[in-house]
Amino acid sequence: MEEISIAQGIGKQATYQQLLPQIEALIGDEPDLTANLANTVAALHHTFKFWWTGFYLVQNNQLVLAPFQGPVACTRINFGKGVCGTAWQQKQTLIVPDVEKFEGHIACSSATQSEIVVPVIIDGEVVAVLDIDSEHLNNFDETDKTYLEQIALFIGKKFN
Ligand code: SME
Repeated sequence: MEEISIAQGIGKQATYQQLLPQIEALIGDEPDLTANLANTVAALHHTFKFWWTGFYLVQNNQLVLAPFQGPVACTRINFGKGVCGTAWQQKQTLIVPDVEKFEGHIACSSATQSEIVVPVIIDGEVVAVLDIDSEHLNNFDETDKTYLEQIALFIGKKFN
């Protein structure tokens, strides 16, 4: 995969615009869900140098840790708990500019300062969430939301 990086100064939007087709090419023909989740988080994580990037899958009414990049994380999250469980409950993307100001935030790592959680929705039901943490305050905005939701849509097609 061609190396692209926001550090090269091409800007966040342009970086996503380059990254999206690369992710689509990586996972487009591959039916294995784990492989596809793993490569998607790796591509995102290393392109943007996030602190933590990963999926949680809805299993037996809990979010269960799935492929991720970064430090070890909480294994299970209940419906409505933390940013992830709240995004699941609300069926919408949550941008948290300062995690200390989000009541009930689950601090898997004290380094995390801001966070975005994007649900993967199929037929109106959340099947997974994509959670990204940054060690910088206010790291995520509408640009991240727009492109990460496109990735979530694409990933949603890989679920059976
Ligand atoms: N902070 C998340 C928990 C998951 S970890 O950040 C990887 C939350 O509040 O849901």
